[in-house]
Amino acid sequence: MRITTEQNDIARVLFSEEQIARRVKELGAQLMEQYAGKEPLMVCILKGASFFYTDLCRAMHCNVFMDFIAISSYGAGSKSTGVVRISKDLDTNITGRHVVIVEDIIDSGLTLQYLTELLSSRKPASIQTACLLDKRERRGGAAHTGITGFVIPDEFVVGYGLDYAGYYRNLPYIGVLKAEVYTD
Ligand code: PRP
Repeated sequence: MRITTEQNDIARVLFSEEQIARRVKELGAQLMEQYAGKEPLMVCILKGASFFYTDLCRAMHCNVFMDFIAISSYGAGSKSTGVVRISKDLDTNITGRHVVIVEDIIDSGLTLQYLTELLSSRKPASIQTACLLDKRERRGGAAHTGITGFVIPDEFVVGYGLDYAGYYRNLPYIGVLKAEVYTD
């Protein structure tokens, strides 16, 4: 296995820094309109969503509240099982609040499903999800129903928060990782 943080490991750029910035501003404007006067609580799912989350919050020129939740999947596999452990819970009581769960990527959809159910049980006034990347091919084409940045093909993507073995999160763009990096 060869891991470097060099751009050589990227097969192609899917979305440039500029394309991401433009789309995130659009999503921020969309949310701002939807939540006018509601002071939404923006929930970041660590760690992958971190860059998207902070840029999205900054694109909302209205009162927003920020909180963070950290989860880890059970099991050793790289694929999501949907069974997650909360390793850092929210500090905020979300009962009666308008909650927006912010995620970097929806793949099988199990993580978001689990978190939406968990947070819904705390009786927020409303809840929806904002997701930058929707790999809907992996769910038989079923579209993410919340706020969506880009629909992407079923490829291994890294950058702008997305990692492989902890690497590449800080790339300013989103790219497809060369297969030779993650296969022996
Ligand atoms: C990734 C991503 C989502 C989840 C999506 O998290 O950030 O939370 O997988 O997969 P799913 O739709 O199949 O459930 P990961 O476990 O890699 O943690 P990270 O955010 O810390 O990178």
